[in-house]
Amino acid sequence: METDNKALSPADSALTVSSIMSPHDTNLLGTVHGGVILKLIDTVAGVVAARHSGGSAVTASMDETAFLVAVRVGDVVHVDARVTWAGRTSMEVAVKVTADRWNESVPPTTVVTAHLVMVAVDEGGRPRPVPELVPATDEDRRAHRRADIRRRHRLALRAALREEAEEPSQT
Ligand SMILES: CC(C)(COP(=O)(O)OP(=O)(O)OC[C@H]1O[C@@H](n2cnc3c(N)ncnc32)[C@H](O)[C@@H]1OP(=O)(O)O)[C@@H](O)C(=O)NCCC(=O)NCCS
Repeated sequence: METDNKALSPADSALTVSSIMSPHDTNLLGTVHGGVILKLIDTVAGVVAARHSGGSAVTASMDETAFLVAVRVGDVVHVDARVTWAGRTSMEVAVKVTADRWNESVPPTTVVTAHLVMVAVDEGGRPRPVPELVPATDEDRRAHRRADIRRRHRLALRAALREEAEEPSQT
């Protein structure tokens, strides 16, 4: 895909992917493996980041993720992803996973939410510039402000852990 790095809104790359959970997806308890859901999250976030950046993007990090309810065979899982923030080469993608039943009309239940940092890379795997993100709605602007707070926390945490790792061992 060609990109001229013109500014894009979250809606330009947003995507929802739905999958029906089958017996192949379950653990020994009969519920769906967390790893199956995490893979879906990573895959859909990757597509959204690729759409926004006009090329390949890799996952740099995924924030702490809490599973709120179990997913069962026959549940239809909807993975909704959108860019909430874009920097020079990185993007935050917010993902919300909901589930409903394949054979009943029931309101979807929220299963998990996640925030991923995706970095656009060139053929050599080096970070490359991404288009500016222009929040278009009030909800986009709110999500952007929250993403900015998370970004500052991540960078501060990374810097603090690096600093600690460089200190001489006390033991
Ligand atoms: C992600 C990767 C390309 C970053 O490379 P790097 O040399 O550290 O690049 P930089 O330090 O220049 O960081 C690039 C951007 O990513 C951001 N970033 C990198 N690591 C990050 C992290 N852990 N958390 C948040 N942001 C991060 C930087 O802030 C920077 O953002 P900006 O350009 O928008 O300001 C590199 O670490 C990599 O290839 N990791 C493996 C990715 C992968 O294989 N993922 C699949 C998991 S199995």
